[in-house]
Amino acid sequence: GALQPWNGANQPVLSPIWTRNHEGLLGPTEIGSYPKGSSEATEAALTAAVRAYANGSGEWPTMTVAERIACMERFTRQMLARRNEIVSLIMWEVGKTFPDSEKEFDRTIVYIAATIDALKDLDNSSSRFVVAEGTIGQIRRTPLGVVLCMGPYNYPLNETFATLIPALIMGNTILLKPPRFGVLLFQPLLEAFSNSFPKGVVNTVYGNGADVVPALLGSGKVNVLTLIGSSKVADHLKKLHPKVNRLRAILGLDAKNAAIVMPDADLELAVRECLLGALSFNGQRCTALKALLVHSAIVDQFTHRLGEEIAKLKVGMPWDAGVTITPLAEPGKAAYLAECIRDAEAKGARVVNPGGGSVCQSLFYPALVCPVSAGMKLYREEQFGPVIPVIPFDRIEVALDYVAAAENGQQVSIFSANPELIGRLVDPLVNQVCRVNINCQCQRGPDVFPFTGRKDSAEGTLSVSDALRSFSIRSMIATKQTDANKQ
Ligand code: G3H
Repeated sequence: GALQPWNGANQPVLSPIWTRNHEGLLGPTEIGSYPKGSSEATEAALTAAVRAYANGSGEWPTMTVAERIACMERFTRQMLARRNEIVSLIMWEVGKTFPDSEKEFDRTIVYIAATIDALKDLDNSSSRFVVAEGTIGQIRRTPLGVVLCMGPYNYPLNETFATLIPALIMGNTILLKPPRFGVLLFQPLLEAFSNSFPKGVVNTVYGNGADVVPALLGSGKVNVLTLIGSSKVADHLKKLHPKVNRLRAILGLDAKNAAIVMPDADLELAVRECLLGALSFNGQRCTALKALLVHSAIVDQFTHRLGEEIAKLKVGMPWDAGVTITPLAEPGKAAYLAECIRDAEAKGARVVNPGGGSVCQSLFYPALVCPVSAGMKLYREEQFGPVIPVIPFDRIEVALDYVAAAENGQQVSIFSANPELIGRLVDPLVNQVCRVNINCQCQRGPDVFPFTGRKDSAEGTLSVSDALRSFSIRSMIATKQTDANKQ
């Protein structure tokens, strides 16, 4: 690929992990740097990607499926050889616990292997000859062109690769724009790409997205936009393309997933799932539970037990054993969360768990806030952090209306011991969101399942096989049947 050399104009990377300096003060740790990016470098990356695709006649898009798979397997071996370095960089750059950083790496390796298997199946089923009404056709899955891949900081490796890997293996060429946080971890991977794929197939773009992405999209030379990020940014970006209707977009966006906890729910199970669902990786997951709708008959008992469990969570550095709550990745996030809590308190809610919402540098102690109601920021805003709003309800219709009235629609969890009630709730809910979780938290995986959302939450579907289809189009080669080609 077109690796861009380090130069004098580098952007420092400050880890959210604060350490003591020689004066005994806490301060963010500088862990590396990456190129600041420039319009010339962006242009060079785009030119390389366009040239490597060469209107579909480049070396990469014309390779056989078997040859592309061989390149991907070579890449995987090189990626595995750099496992420790990449895992440590995930931990340092975004503050994810070491075991979760390992999971992110290993999950990505499994994802690549599953993609290769799915491509073999797709190729077997799509390259057969079909005869219809005197015409013989061979249908092929063919690439789309240049794909701009932008992943999120919360899964900088896994979610960037959830689009990059299927796009690449289908024969497209790639522009990789690393997330705001989670940039350095791509350096060992860029070397692996460079050693495994033809020149210009994977190219990186650095710099502030607001500066570099308009030039890429405005050129009209990007055929597919992928973004796992915010709905607002996605809407803005799509409009930058001169032929916006022809730009294919694969998007994973805003979500405010709710749990509905019924009075007959297994309380301990509901508490356990809501705890992890809301607070894994500090709630910095698009799939996190971001509103708990709890029946008023059990809301006091539920919030008391959940508060007790929150108090047991270990808050600390990502390498500490047994830690759950780690430094927040975004510098302004703690102030935003504190403002959400102040807003709720001013309107009649309170923080249930003692110490909830206190801040120590980039560490934010999780807060359970109850009762949250319409008009408070926490009611609808996607907090994307360790603050859990509890919204009490008396009638199930009120909970269903909350889900139906949302601007986004990714997932919902229902907690109840009554199968008949669950059965009645599932039908309306599965038509409003794209995954209904019964007696368990919301989540994306396993990655073979479709991952998408309704309304503002997504465009296109990711899963191993859906993603291969998303980054390709069915083309065909056809001829008339004659006596000579009949057999
Ligand atoms: O941030 C959104 C991710 O897709 C969440 O994935 O449910 O596997 O943590 P996860």
